[in-house]
Amino acid sequence: MRTTFRTERNVFTNKDVFKEGYDPDEILERDEEISEYIGYLEDALFGETPKNIIVYGNTGVGKTVVTDHVTQMLSSEAERRDEGVDIHVVKVNCGHHTSSYQAAVALVNAMRRDTDREEIGKGYGFADAMDMLYAEVEQREGTVYVILDEIDFLGDDDQILYELPRASANGYVERSHVGVIGISNDYTYRDNLSSKVKDTLQEDEIKFPPYDAAELRTILEDRAEKGMKEDVLDGAVIPKCAAISARDSGSARQAIDLLREAGNVADADGRDAVGETDVDEAVTRVERGRLKDGIRDLTAHGKHILLSLARAYGRQETPLRLKELLPIYERVARGAGSDPLGEHRVRDHLADLTMLGFVEQRRTNKGRAGGQFYQYDLSVDAEAVFEVVSE
Ligand SMILES: Nc1ncnc2c1ncn2[C@@H]1O[C@H](COP(=O)(O)OP(=O)(O)OP(=O)(O)O)[C@@H](O)[C@H]1O
Ligand SMILES: [Mg+2]
Repeated sequence: MRTTFRTERNVFTNKDVFKEGYDPDEILERDEEISEYIGYLEDALFGETPKNIIVYGNTGVGKTVVTDHVTQMLSSEAERRDEGVDIHVVKVNCGHHTSSYQAAVALVNAMRRDTDREEIGKGYGFADAMDMLYAEVEQREGTVYVILDEIDFLGDDDQILYELPRASANGYVERSHVGVIGISNDYTYRDNLSSKVKDTLQEDEIKFPPYDAAELRTILEDRAEKGMKEDVLDGAVIPKCAAISARDSGSARQAIDLLREAGNVADADGRDAVGETDVDEAVTRVERGRLKDGIRDLTAHGKHILLSLARAYGRQETPLRLKELLPIYERVARGAGSDPLGEHRVRDHLADLTMLGFVEQRRTNKGRAGGQFYQYDLSVDAEAVFEVVSE
């Protein structure tokens, strides 16, 4: 039981170093990708039409952090040279603005934030939003690089990718240039673009491979130096976090999460030494955190259905059939103030939940008399479901 605040931490000197938005002053182990990036961006410095670029790579491999870094370098270099070429960078995360229209509005607002013009709300069409965006771009009298991060979220709605690269050709901007940088998790993203978009975009590609264990060790050592006390880490901790993440995903995010959680475990225990077993505990915690994020991202009815299964599981009534699950689900949905969906929609949701790995679906064959039917069971930790739902 704690009755006072600590005056000093056991493990950390600065926990922010392990947070998602932390800006590492130094990008490590990405020299090749940075060099390729610089090669493509350079045209803009000479006042030429900027190249469009799409960056590909799995989650956590540094796409966002490297893009922020090189575009920042580009605009400061333009400023330093002071040769009349102004370069501005504006970014939207399509994960939060999932249509071309929403992305356009977000870009207008991001650009207006540095001006005395007011941000816009809803009630405009896509064309209006694009007009306002072009007006902002034109007003800069320079090159504007538009970063569309997590571009996959736009899905089929790729209109903004058609419009932006043609801004000059169509005469929407005359004194400025527009370049586009798209960032995608999906290597097949380009294949799904409409052919008119492909034709206008004419982009260069940069691929970010997963990190190997050695690269992850370098990144982790740097973070530990910046955010943890000296000598708190057992020599095996960083290699273990790096090895697990390299094997699993090649993601620096996962590796950093593991190291932070291992530190948290020791810190909460009142120890100033982090050991290998803390990493084991960290693995469980990080997985649980990811699972909970996944549950949070479900639709309302997806959550209701999962909760009904978790309740049935808690009462040892699983696996069960759809018709046995339905009454539980209906109570849960009504309890949450929503109208329950019909049987067919619930079955669709169950299929989605199965695909996402939350639910297990088994075909049971009871012979000629009983027939064939599906039974469902929960395939994730029920506690995690209860915890997320009670939020
Ligand atoms: N080369 C690196 N040097 C230092 N830190 C890095 C490096 N690569 C990634 N990181 C860190 O790892 C985390 C994930 O990186 P980032 O957000 O850039 O991944 P991403 O490829 O954009 O992933 P996602 O597709 O999920 O958006 C961030 O905290 C970032 O600071
Ligand atoms: Mg990213």
